[in-house]
Amino acid sequence: MKPAFYITSPIYYPSSTLHIGNAYTTIAADAMARYKRLKGFDVFYLTGTDEHGQKLQRKAEGAGKKPLEYIDPIVDWIKDLWRQLDISYDDFIRTSEERHEEVVQEIFRKLMDQGDIYLGEYEGYYCVECEAFWTPFQAKKGDEYLCPDCGRPVSLVKEESYFFRLSKYQDQLLHYIETHPEFIQPESRRNEMIQNFLKPGLEDLSVSRTSFDWGIPVPGNPNHVIYVWIDALSNYITAIGYGRDEEKFSRYWPADIHLIGKDILRFHTIYWPILLMALGLPLPKRVFGHGWLLMPDGKMSKSKGNAIDPKFLIGRYGSDAIRYYLLREIAFGQDGIFTPEAFIQRCNYDLANDLGNLVSRTLAMIEKYFDGKIPHARQREEGDEKLISLAMATKGKVEDHMEKLLFGQALAEIWALIRQTNRYIDDNAPWALAREEKNHPRLGTVLYHLAESIRIISILIQPFLTKTPAKIWEQLGFRSGEEGLSWEDAGRWGLLPEGQRVYKGEALFPRLDITAEIAAIDEYTAEAKRKAEENKRLQEAREGKEKIELRDGKEPVGKEPRSRMDEEKKATEDKGIEAKKMKKENGLINIDEFAKVELRVAEVIEADRIPGADRLLKLILDLGTEKRQVVSGIAEYYKPEELIGLKLILVANLKPVKLRGVDSYGMILAAKEGDTLKVATLPKEIPNGTLVK
Ligand code: ME8
Ligand code: MG
Repeated sequence: MKPAFYITSPIYYPSSTLHIGNAYTTIAADAMARYKRLKGFDVFYLTGTDEHGQKLQRKAEGAGKKPLEYIDPIVDWIKDLWRQLDISYDDFIRTSEERHEEVVQEIFRKLMDQGDIYLGEYEGYYCVECEAFWTPFQAKKGDEYLCPDCGRPVSLVKEESYFFRLSKYQDQLLHYIETHPEFIQPESRRNEMIQNFLKPGLEDLSVSRTSFDWGIPVPGNPNHVIYVWIDALSNYITAIGYGRDEEKFSRYWPADIHLIGKDILRFHTIYWPILLMALGLPLPKRVFGHGWLLMPDGKMSKSKGNAIDPKFLIGRYGSDAIRYYLLREIAFGQDGIFTPEAFIQRCNYDLANDLGNLVSRTLAMIEKYFDGKIPHARQREEGDEKLISLAMATKGKVEDHMEKLLFGQALAEIWALIRQTNRYIDDNAPWALAREEKNHPRLGTVLYHLAESIRIISILIQPFLTKTPAKIWEQLGFRSGEEGLSWEDAGRWGLLPEGQRVYKGEALFPRLDITAEIAAIDEYTAEAKRKAEENKRLQEAREGKEKIELRDGKEPVGKEPRSRMDEEKKATEDKGIEAKKMKKENGLINIDEFAKVELRVAEVIEADRIPGADRLLKLILDLGTEKRQVVSGIAEYYKPEELIGLKLILVANLKPVKLRGVDSYGMILAAKEGDTLKVATLPKEIPNGTLVK
């Protein structure tokens, strides 16, 4: 029987659609799950949605819907996202499902029966966004009370509540963490949990709420709903049959890896293990808290509108490109910044050039010189050893990194092999060998080695890229699952059958126009930001009254040291800001900064549609001393002839870009509101080229 391997992602709040940060965790867990399956494990990969709690109740109310009415379409959207990203989960649990709710009630009852949960009264702060309790000391910031995790105002809660005796288990947990160094990873996070939370001592945790009802009722006291984190964390055992299917449960529990973001480490390394201890269950083997994916202006957030919709990227660039970029670019465990530049460059350089080109060059040569049949490898030369030994060593290196969840490094090893293989082409110059008949045995050997290296690469990339391997196999003449394609076969040289018919197919990855694609992503994010700001204004108008109530806090009591998360959050934001070298103060600029923008009067002398680009017009502008070509996205609002003779305002010193293959040397100013767009114009008597300031 295959050894079991149980890996989980967080279960996401279906309070809104997900962004690429959420997708990042799920893709990473998927890469691990796929890797372990290839290694012969019986893998169970669990993901799902965390559907209860005050945040979701409010969201639904805000939308004028019943909770599930609000949630169901989002859950569908999420499942569709995982489908688009080829996430190979084995189960998707929704905490609103009966199979989960019933077992959570049983867990709660058991803990009440054994005296670990008792009734009392809670007084303190609550962050609805994070669904987290905070003491006044933790939450006080200046005159306000703010969530140390997310910075939003917290609300003062005073209500009857059940409490869970965390304090009873605290020494046991501390001992466990200290004697199991692999339990919390990366190590820096382990120290943080010990120093910031365990050493100062744990307070008993409020585990029920009475002020809303969207949750699992406390057994025997339905005025209370179970605290959403107790409900949510339990998913890791309810989904695999705790209390229901003993065989399945004992097969997969304890989990091998809970993969989560660092924002929810406290819940997974303090509350969760204590809950398991109280249930008499073994603890998960590893909890890995990875870093955040940041945008150039800080943490991704729906309200900032800087979060990129993964479906936009998948639709434009394909899921393999997104999976590759996220796993390669961001050192797992650390924060990383998503920039359109780095993303598009990775697509072009790593995928289209390094990998795509290697495959298409090799296959083109096999077709051309050997009628599309894998040639014999009869004439090895000394220099070949370098390629072969690197290829043979790569599998082991990838495995070492994967065991440590170092996805970026695993990919770097594979790409070192890809680059070495490309170098082997240049070193051996097959096109030169092809010129003389007597060199054909050597030519065949060189091409065999190239194809063989590609076979190995195609096996090793499987945990990361899900669509590309099959495309390569088809081109190499394999059908998937055939001999020579198992994971172990990546460690063996010479398995590619000589004489196998290859089929040169389409390019694996398109070559992108870097400038145009960066502009497209920037345009998309700018639009998302505008929408978010609009939504925020609307929402603030609606919630105005409520906010004032929430800020009405009490004086601080208690002496716990303040969480370090505050500082961490700030560091994170600083990093993001640094990244873009934004030196704006409160969004204001000084006159020198404004003076950098050269605005000039420009008269339209020609205007034409661009074939195949419905939104774009090509304008020729008269600047007095020169004529300028500018591409402008105003075709939906102006007929070309309407523009002739208008005096527009041109941003004259903008870096040139190519839009749909047409060069554009500047940008004209226009105002857009809803469906109306008007270009900014000046009266006829102003000479062309006049500076506008
Ligand atoms: O916390 N970069 O759900 P959630 C990287 N329901 N990862 C990010 C990210 C970013 N910018 N933003 C979010 C919850 N994530 C609870 C979990 S588990 C029993 C309950 C990822 O929808 C990261 O893994 O807020 C984080 O932990 C998770 O999304 C939180 O998703
Ligand atoms: Mg969150």
